[in-house]
Amino acid sequence: MAASDEKRGSWRVGVLFSQTGVTSTIERSQLNATLLAIEEINAAGGILDRPIEPVIYDPASNPKQFRSLAERLLQVDRVRLLFGCYMTSTRKTILPVVEAYRGLLFYPTLYEGFEYSRNCIYTGAAPNQNSIQLARYLLSAYGNRFFFVGSNYIYPYESNRLMADFVAQGRGKVLDELYVSLQPEPKDFDRVIAKIKKAAPDVIFSTVVGSGTAMFYQAYREAGFDPGKMPIASLTTSEAEVAEMSAEAAEGHITAAPFFETLSTPSARQFVGNFKQRFGADAPVTAGAEAAYFQMHLAMRALARCGTDDPERVLSELRDSEFDAPQGRVRIDRENNHTYLWPRIARLDGQGRFRTVWNPGVRIKPDPYCVVQSLDDWSADEIHASAT
Ligand code: ACM
Repeated sequence: MAASDEKRGSWRVGVLFSQTGVTSTIERSQLNATLLAIEEINAAGGILDRPIEPVIYDPASNPKQFRSLAERLLQVDRVRLLFGCYMTSTRKTILPVVEAYRGLLFYPTLYEGFEYSRNCIYTGAAPNQNSIQLARYLLSAYGNRFFFVGSNYIYPYESNRLMADFVAQGRGKVLDELYVSLQPEPKDFDRVIAKIKKAAPDVIFSTVVGSGTAMFYQAYREAGFDPGKMPIASLTTSEAEVAEMSAEAAEGHITAAPFFETLSTPSARQFVGNFKQRFGADAPVTAGAEAAYFQMHLAMRALARCGTDDPERVLSELRDSEFDAPQGRVRIDRENNHTYLWPRIARLDGQGRFRTVWNPGVRIKPDPYCVVQSLDDWSADEIHASAT
């Protein structure tokens, strides 16, 4: 029997988000949201009269540290439910450990798809919930000549591979595909800017992550490009990365995600208000944070139903379970452990705030292996809403 199943007074859960390193700004937003959900649950009496107690480490945006801290959580701290990871490289490093110890990882980040682990619940967007819609929007609004720029690791390679398929479906062309270091310096973008100037694409698809994002957008602005004609579109430029750049550098660029801080629905306003009250008016509220928030609520409701943190039992309770998240009602798919989500696309305004430009008001069933790879069919769920 694991420590948290004994009569110890609290449910201990592992939390692994980087508080330092290249992706720490976005991961801190996910950590904050995890803590907010825990505090809400504890303030309402905990789960079966026991509080949730997070065991938190800082893996410093480093896959090796993620792995050793996941081992420590599962083996030494003897927790069974883990919440964490942003970069795919960190998820892929800890999943074999989570599987070996029969734990359960809750992963709140968009990723490239083409993965299923029985021991992972994926609550960020799969490509059929963000990339297809983004490709379609860009092809119709800007043109079909794309230029890809990414950070040098697995998510950008795979995300670009899929985006290239969608662009080809739209009779478009990828003019070039460049990668910069995961920990770049501003001068690393000189080569990128020179190549963009020469290629003169209609749109740039950026899979740059973390602190390099602000350097890229800043370099783009300094080059004098016009975002109204040739925007940077991304799935990984969230409120956290925008907080690290000037509003002028952000203006006019585009992101696809299920949640933005500026959504006007009552549940989104309440979540953002509570988040800012707890962590400060300047604390960015991101789609990754929203997923981190609702996944903790979903997990703890499942735990309350089965009365144990045994991952097998929690997993059975999670299948088909739903939760009224800030983005709309989400649901865990019983077959692939991914989440039904609400796609949206937004453009950054002159204050660096996301303004929705496309919102179909439908919930999309996750299709992580892109079985349906069509620009015109994203496997929409039966639920429709007028949420903005
Ligand atoms: C990512 O690496 N999944 C953003």
